[in-house]
Amino acid sequence: MRVDIISIFPEYFTPLDVSLIGKARHRGILDIRLHQLRDWTDDVHRTVDDTPYGGGPGMVMKPEPWGAAIDSVIGPASPPPRLVVPTPSGRPFTQELALEYAKEPWLLFAPARYEGIDARVMAEYGSRLRVDEVSIGDYVLAGGEAAVLVIVEAVGRLLPGVLGNAGSVVDDSFAPGAMAGLLEGPVYTKPPVWRGHEVPPILLSGNHGAIARWRRDEALRRTVAKRPELAARLDREALDKRDREVLDDASFRFTPEDMAD
Ligand code: ADE
Repeated sequence: MRVDIISIFPEYFTPLDVSLIGKARHRGILDIRLHQLRDWTDDVHRTVDDTPYGGGPGMVMKPEPWGAAIDSVIGPASPPPRLVVPTPSGRPFTQELALEYAKEPWLLFAPARYEGIDARVMAEYGSRLRVDEVSIGDYVLAGGEAAVLVIVEAVGRLLPGVLGNAGSVVDDSFAPGAMAGLLEGPVYTKPPVWRGHEVPPILLSGNHGAIARWRRDEALRRTVAKRPELAARLDREALDKRDREVLDDASFRFTPEDMAD
C-alpha cells in the first residue's frame, strides 16, 4: 500500500519508522511518503494560513498550497488515491473503516493545523477522488497529524504480512466474527501467581472449549460494564442461553427500544 502524507510537520511522523509499521515499510508492504506542505507556497514566508472569512477566532489553511501539493502528489495517476482529511467534524474512524482502507492501494492524508482547511479544497477533490473527512474521537487535537498516526497504525497492522500472528486480528475488539460487537476480555501470561494475584485457573486447564466459553463470558461482562451502548446493539438472535445468563447476571437489560429492532 502506498501512503502519502502532506503536512507542515513531516517530522511528526518519525514514529512510523518504529515497530510493526517500521518493519512493514522495510519489507516494502507499506510505502510511506512524507511531504512538506510549505514546499508548495510561493511567498518568502511560506505562508499556509490566513484569517477566516466571516470573522471568528484562529486561522484557516489557504487553498492554494493544498491544491498545488495534492495535484503534484497525485500527478496524472489513475486510479487516484483516496483522500483522507482528519477533522473533529468528520465521520467516526472505526475498525470497519480501517478494514475498508486496508483494501485500498493508495491513501493520501491531508492533516490540518489551525481551524482547518478552506472547504473548497474538499469540494474541488470531491469531484475527482474519494474524499473522507474522518474523526478519531470526540475531542479536539492541536492538529490532524496525531490522527494520521492513529489511522495509519490501525490500517497498517491489517495489511497481509504485517502481524506475525494472523489470529490476533480476528479476536480484536470491534473486529467482525464470532466475538463481533464485544470488547476483548482480560489476558494473562506467566507466572501463574504474581504478588498474590492468581491467573484464573480455567486458563491453565487445557480445556479449550471451556476456555473459549470463559473468554466469551468475560467479553460480555466487560462490554456491559464499560460500553453498555455496544451491548445494547448486540444481535440478540446470535446470543445463546449462556450469553443471556451472563448478561442477566451483569444486570444488563435490553431496553424496549432495543427489543423493537
Ligand atoms: N483534528 C483535531 N482533532 C481531531 C480529531 N478528533 N480527529 C481527527 N482529526 C482531528
